[in-house]
Amino acid sequence: MSQPADASSHIAFLDRYYGRQRRAYDLTRRLFLLGRERMLRNLAIQPGERVLELGCGTARNLLWLAKREAAATYHGVDASREMLTTAADRVRSSNVDVILSQHRAESLTSPGMLGVSQGFDAVFFSYSLSMMPDWRGALAAAMSCLRPSGRLAIVDFWDMAGWPKWIAEWTRRRLHAHHVHFDAGVHDWLRELQGPTRQLHIAPVARRWAYLATLQPATPPRSE
Ligand SMILES: C[S@@+](CC[C@H](N)C(=O)[O-])C[C@H]1O[C@@H](n2cnc3c(N)ncnc32)[C@H](O)[C@@H]1O
Repeated sequence: MSQPADASSHIAFLDRYYGRQRRAYDLTRRLFLLGRERMLRNLAIQPGERVLELGCGTARNLLWLAKREAAATYHGVDASREMLTTAADRVRSSNVDVILSQHRAESLTSPGMLGVSQGFDAVFFSYSLSMMPDWRGALAAAMSCLRPSGRLAIVDFWDMAGWPKWIAEWTRRRLHAHHVHFDAGVHDWLRELQGPTRQLHIAPVARRWAYLATLQPATPPRSE
């Protein structure tokens, strides 16, 4: 598939970065990718639902969900072939069904690109949006893959306002060096989507180390 030049260099960076780390990734990240289980539990996946993670990495989150609700369908999208190789190994050895595909999240324009005609009931980003250079495009892609009654969830780094300044600054510098950026514009973008039919909730995780955002129908979904 041909990609714009900056897209190819983003993918090349991800493959270099994760090519070295993917085997130890889950072990080394559990200490600072906080709030992931909270987000996954809040999604409250029901039997028969279709679920999509954008930037699924090693598929750790999808496997967590699939072990708790096996009667849903799980899709994982990632831009890095290296990460997807580890994800595919994990899925194979876990004896659960997760469908994996390689795309840049921001290149998705419809659920049909993933072979799903009516859209997903839940779409989520877990510490991936802050790595996506075109986060607006990635959020728009997520919305285009959601059913009208679907819910969107994001857990990701926040401004660390509750932490001592030196820790927050040191961490931010480390994250920037690894191409990870929190842009406050993400929350403004999400607020624009609120309305009579959809409500947004943004909650801090660990003194604003991270945030957990959920956009969901304001009223119980009607049958479509
Ligand atoms: C920090 S890891 C998080 C992985 C997983 N979501 C988790 O919670 O463990 C970020 C993931 O986002 C993927 N990623 C970064 N930019 C992407 C993009 N533009 N489209 C799709 N995936 C992307 C990376 O390859 C990586 O697997």
